[in-house]
Amino acid sequence: MKTEFLKKVAEKKAVIGVIGLGYVGLPLNLCFVEKGFRSIGFDIDESKIKSLEAGTSYIKHISLERIARANHSKLFSVTSDFTRLQECDAILIAVPTPLNKNREPEMEYIVSTCEAISPHLRKGQLVVLESTTYPGTTVEVVIPILEKSGLKVDKDFYAAFSPEREDPNNPQFTTETIPKVVGATSNDGLEIVNAVYSQIVVHTVPVSSTQIAEAAKLMENIFRSVNIALVNELKVTFMKMGIDIWEVIEAAKTKPFGFMPFYPGPGLGGHCIPIDPFYLSWKAREFGVNSRFIELAGEINTSMPDFVVQRAMEVLNELGKPLKGSKILLLGLAYKANVDDYRESPSFVLMEKLESHGAVVDYNDPYIPMIKTTREHSHFAGRTSAEITSTYDLVLISTAHDVYKDINFERLGIPVLDTRNLLKHPSPLFHKA
Ligand SMILES: NC(=O)c1ccc[n+]([C@@H]2O[C@H](COP(=O)([O-])OP(=O)(O)OC[C@H]3O[C@@H](n4cnc5c(N)ncnc54)[C@H](O)[C@@H]3O)[C@@H](O)[C@H]2O)c1
Repeated sequence: MKTEFLKKVAEKKAVIGVIGLGYVGLPLNLCFVEKGFRSIGFDIDESKIKSLEAGTSYIKHISLERIARANHSKLFSVTSDFTRLQECDAILIAVPTPLNKNREPEMEYIVSTCEAISPHLRKGQLVVLESTTYPGTTVEVVIPILEKSGLKVDKDFYAAFSPEREDPNNPQFTTETIPKVVGATSNDGLEIVNAVYSQIVVHTVPVSSTQIAEAAKLMENIFRSVNIALVNELKVTFMKMGIDIWEVIEAAKTKPFGFMPFYPGPGLGGHCIPIDPFYLSWKAREFGVNSRFIELAGEINTSMPDFVVQRAMEVLNELGKPLKGSKILLLGLAYKANVDDYRESPSFVLMEKLESHGAVVDYNDPYIPMIKTTREHSHFAGRTSAEITSTYDLVLISTAHDVYKDINFERLGIPVLDTRNLLKHPSPLFHKA
């Protein structure tokens, strides 16, 4: 079974299936196509299937040319028909892993995907989970569902975990240039999953189990969450002392060893850092462990929007204006610069908090002309990006999109509250938060 699989991979005859055509799954699919593999994308969202078939892109940084090339190659197809999983030799799962309303892991997407694979699983296939999740998921959740097919792992099929490290729109790193950790439940499984990913990434990092691979991904994201919390706390502390955190970071990062810069902001956003750490703290409780660092970092990071709202009140107060009734333009809805992804964006929390104080809030974001329904903030759906004009009482910079760097904010003649250190020169109108 192994030899035949490896031969197919080496000859580029293996067919790759990717389930979940989102920020992770779509580029993964395209990478295999670009390396000469037939690759089938699966999604339950028909609008994504239609869009790709029509040659249009629903992710800003994935170009139309790239999709057109894939379509033209005849190696790429997309479908919502899961019977076609039988055509695949490797099935890679990249579905969402959010938190539920009690802030516990929402495993529904992984479970329903595995249930959709199970009836079509055939001998010799490899199934890889890429979605970020707690250690133990592959063995405790994925494999038992797949084995309902009657097939046995490492006897009839292989199972593996390989975490995604995508950093959307980072010009320095693409899917191909980021090393990929791979873990499986047997040596044969490891050899196979390693062979598959070696076809598309600079190098793979084989580890001894799926649990190590799952834990490595969480460690990477917890490291970021904790360090961002630390720098957010230092910002608040230094600000009270009249010290500019941004200048402190620039100075500290000249140390050539033992320091890595992290930057403060209005709160955490995106599909990973605000969510993934709580997959571990939830699992840790099963072992009687209270993950205090994770909880504390979460607490500090989620308190940042309150700090920003407080600063907005102070700035308006200096002008003799109450927050209630003031018109505020929030610049940037995306969770990070130059992307169109607004999942878990702290900008939503800022809008909610400012509006709860009676402020009248508009947003501007060149990448998000209109807010679509989101899991957490559906009441904002339908709002559209407003023009940047001097009719507002305050401009609040929440995301450092490059396009904002060219705006002459002083000419607007209204105060600007900057949470991203976008405004480099001092002005009586410029304030930091
Ligand atoms: N976005 C990132 O930068 C990033 C980085 C690293 C890791 N991850 C992880 O990768 C995973 C996927 O994230 P994403 O950002 O690509 O999510 P996404 O929401 O952009 O895409 C997920 C896709 O899965 C589809 N889907 C949902 N349920 C399905 C099902 N049962 N069958 C088939 N398709 C289904 C959705 O329609 C959607 O198109 C998550 O676990 C996330 O934590 C994301």
